[in-house]
Amino acid sequence: MLSTELTEMLGIEYPIMESGMLWLGRAELAAAVSDAGGLGIIGSANFAGAQELRDEIRKARDLTEKPLGVNISLFTQRPLPNDEFIDVALEEGIRVVESSGARSPEQYIARLRQSGVKVIHKVATVRHAVKAEQAGVDAVSVVGFEGAGHIGMDDVSTLVLIRSAVAALRVPVIAGGGIADGHGVVAALALGAQGVLMGTRFMTTRECVLPAAVKDWLAGLRETDTTIIQRSIKNPARVVANEAARRILEMEHTAPPVEELVSFISTLRTREMLDSGDRNAGILACGQGVGLIRNVPTAREAVESIVSEARAAASKLAEMGLLSN
Ligand SMILES: Cc1cc2nc3c(=O)[nH]c(=O)nc-3n(C[C@H](O)[C@H](O)[C@H](O)COP(=O)(O)O)c2cc1C
Repeated sequence: MLSTELTEMLGIEYPIMESGMLWLGRAELAAAVSDAGGLGIIGSANFAGAQELRDEIRKARDLTEKPLGVNISLFTQRPLPNDEFIDVALEEGIRVVESSGARSPEQYIARLRQSGVKVIHKVATVRHAVKAEQAGVDAVSVVGFEGAGHIGMDDVSTLVLIRSAVAALRVPVIAGGGIADGHGVVAALALGAQGVLMGTRFMTTRECVLPAAVKDWLAGLRETDTTIIQRSIKNPARVVANEAARRILEMEHTAPPVEELVSFISTLRTREMLDSGDRNAGILACGQGVGLIRNVPTAREAVESIVSEARAAASKLAEMGLLSN
């Protein structure tokens, strides 16, 4: 047990969340994270329709009785049946919804909260965090420049962003972006966050549906092996620096028609990576924290080692006289 406002709010043991991951946020991984005492998130955008999401939630439910969350994507690229996804989440007894994306979750909040669901909205700037709080969310996830996927336009590091968000908000802040071990957890809690989220760490666990060869490759990468694409279309995303990313960066220098670029950044190419095991098939969101990852454990082993590292790091702080009791 590691108690914070977030663990109390969500009824979980450790303030550690697996954040939404397109194609990868599936039942086995979410259930394993939750069963280990964190909060696992099933990504609704993985599915074409509500029935598939329902089946996935039920599959996860067969694996754990602990709280589970569902991610609702509010990115604008693909039309998604989010109202139906929310119906299913409510019908299946989901107690936590993580929304993420450029749009505000405002239209869904009243209904979710009336049903007793805790709403967490994920953002990459303090101003969006403040808007989410004003819209009535229960907690805000704030993801810094080091993180995988959409990192916003401002290039503010997690260290500065989290502290600024904590100072600006009353609701609990969940810190993300570059947190991949227990040292990162202690740092985030020291900044005033009530919990952390991790994508890259949980992407590199046994239960994740990425092919084993891709996960082994990721576990050998360094903190310098990611890059930022899509700056030219004002939608920057941090991805692993593979051939697909390098090709997109080259294209961006020549300012091709947007449709041409979009066909290369299509997440369907990423989906192809899952089937073929070809790590260059498409882009793969990946944070700088990949340089801190050296193994492919089970999600339970990952959570347990993060918690024991955090305890060891806190003991070191106590030895230095930083903790008084
Ligand atoms: C493979 C992968 C896919 C992701 N897909 C999504 C997504 O669909 N929607 C979203 O909001 N964030 C997505 N993210 C970002 C994570 O939710 C989270 O913000 C990020 O991983 C945090 O940084 P970290 O990787 O350093 O832990 C993805 C991350 C990864 C690694």
